[in-house]
Amino acid sequence: MDRLVRLYDLPDLEPFRRASLSKGITVRRARAYEQMQTIDWVRAMFSMEWASECSVCFSRVPLSCFIATRDSEIIGFACYETTFRNFFGPIGVDPNRRGAGVGATLLISCLKSMWDEGYAYAIIGGPREAAPFYRRLVGAVDIEGSTPGIYVDRLTVRR
Ligand SMILES: CC(C)(COP(=O)(O)OP(=O)(O)OC[C@H]1O[C@@H](n2cnc3c(N)ncnc32)[C@H](O)[C@@H]1OP(=O)(O)O)[C@@H](O)C(=O)NCCC(=O)NCCS
Repeated sequence: MDRLVRLYDLPDLEPFRRASLSKGITVRRARAYEQMQTIDWVRAMFSMEWASECSVCFSRVPLSCFIATRDSEIIGFACYETTFRNFFGPIGVDPNRRGAGVGATLLISCLKSMWDEGYAYAIIGGPREAAPFYRRLVGAVDIEGSTPGIYVDRLTVRR
């Protein structure tokens, strides 16, 4: 089920950014020259489908992918406006780095960027298991009737 987020009522990004920085983690917009590294990382860590979606972010200005880095290595990523306009996602954090606020900082960075680009609401797709993450951090509410949503008629993935 998809979810709706009010972008005019986001939590302040600064405390999240500062908390990440205090752990040596920087969350920032990816840069064009980091395209291959970022996509390769997403593919290795998550999936070909997410890497494909991530690649779309690098063909627009401003770039719609944020990355979290530590010691000059990527530890997380988040995208918006990949498969459809106004959609947030995908997002993913290295399993060894979860639970440290990285996902929260990535999520709010992207949503704030969508607000700055002129959207009042964002739509979040994604698995049911992630619903509490979005509800807790940004008050995302279910969109009735949005199952199966946009990810239908999918190609078989041969790895
Ligand atoms: C979802 C994900 C991005 C969260 O990243 P993270 O860095 O672990 O998240 P944070 O540490 O910033 O967590 C922020 C808060 O959300 C909570 N939270 C994190 N993941 C959660 C989940 N799956 N369910 C419920 N709550 C969750 C945390 O407990 C934390 O709450 P707290 O501040 O009260 O302690 C990460 O678990 C992940 O990469 N999952 C696999 C990919 C995925 O499912 N992506 C989402 C669908 S596109």
